[in-house]
Amino acid sequence: MTVDTTGFATRAVHAARNQGAASSRATPIYLTAGFEFDDFDHAAGHFGTGAGFGYTRTGNPTVHAVERQLAALESGADAVLVASGQAAVVTALLTVAGAGDHIVSSTHIYEGSRGLFLDNLARLGIETTFVDDIGDVDAWRAAIRPNTRALFAESIANARNDILDIAAIGAVADSSAIPLIVDNTLATPFLVRPLEHGAAIVVHSASKFLAGHGSVLGGVIVDDGRFDPIRAGHNAPHLVLPGRGGVASVAARHGGRARIAYARESVAPRFGASPSPLNAFLIGQGAETLGLRVERQSRNALAVARWLAAHDAVESVDYVGLETHPDHSLATRYLHGGYGSIFTFTLRGGIEAARHFVESVSVFTHMTHIGDVRSLVLHPGTTSHAHRTDEERDILGVSPGTLRLSIGIEDVADLIADLARVLEPVREAVA
Ligand SMILES: Cc1ncc(COP(=O)(O)O)c(C=O)c1O
Repeated sequence: MTVDTTGFATRAVHAARNQGAASSRATPIYLTAGFEFDDFDHAAGHFGTGAGFGYTRTGNPTVHAVERQLAALESGADAVLVASGQAAVVTALLTVAGAGDHIVSSTHIYEGSRGLFLDNLARLGIETTFVDDIGDVDAWRAAIRPNTRALFAESIANARNDILDIAAIGAVADSSAIPLIVDNTLATPFLVRPLEHGAAIVVHSASKFLAGHGSVLGGVIVDDGRFDPIRAGHNAPHLVLPGRGGVASVAARHGGRARIAYARESVAPRFGASPSPLNAFLIGQGAETLGLRVERQSRNALAVARWLAAHDAVESVDYVGLETHPDHSLATRYLHGGYGSIFTFTLRGGIEAARHFVESVSVFTHMTHIGDVRSLVLHPGTTSHAHRTDEERDILGVSPGTLRLSIGIEDVADLIADLARVLEPVREAVA
């Protein structure tokens, strides 16, 4: 197109057109709704097989690059990036379950996941049974029914820092030919890769450690690529039966990757929680420094937890890095490179001491987020867990004086100085 013979509006939308192939070392951001087809057959081929890129909701090169990166970090076969962690959880569940099906979940999960299971999946006809004692292998086994399609748990759970015995619960799932889905948000693949221990699917809120800087939301589903149609086909008819119009089944077309292919073809783009390529880029950039951050955050968290445990104003510290934590030896078996950055502790002064704490910190930020480079604090009893009964809060380890910390990458001396200043009046009040 000759730029100077066209109208102003035409030039405005066409003059920057760039089909050059410069090789950018950083992942290029393909911030585009769609992709131009080479010719008639290219378009028909894309719609026929799904190969290549046509429209960003169904595939985008920036998003794909980050999916490959996150699959590699989690030792998975393939990954699907979505718009939030919540979208990752619902995409994973709707990939394996439908109306009339059942799932078994740990009680110790993110409140948004619990609400999704109880309020939303229930209305779609998917029922959930919760297991309180996640270390009780028999309790998981006993909860499985003929229509159970998945087990779901978090590798490190908030608020008590419970650790999932991934190999034991993965074996329970496998003996029923169903996947164990692990939310690995708090641990990150730097500390543990659940697929290496017998989980079949991993999900993340990429808004947390993967992106790492508290600026974007995202989520990811990573699959082990080991779906076996012979063993597990009866639990996944949507993967092994021919599709609409006699199309070959997902398993016939994608083999062991049938689950993640179904998530990519038929769940994520249909329900529409597609990530922005810009957010995908930021998640990919964050993931490049994941190991450095989580190592530092874990080291800081251990120092802070030890300091808090020795303080007179503190009743208890639920950090799995402390030898006193009931899951410390399990954590030592599964976590390598640190014990994570998120934990709760309980102040002796109850809710008034907690109020004083969140309103007095200055290096810590009072907000509802985790996995940030900045250290954060939240009072679960009046926020994330406000709608639970006292008995439920007790099971979850949330008392009036409990505070959740997400430790950042700051100099640990500054974090401890902030805590010392804030806790001094609490020490005097409870002395
Ligand atoms: C463990 C866990 N899973 C899932 C989510 C949901 O992620 P998002 O907020 O990105 O939707 C969160 C959010 O806090 C979380 O902590």
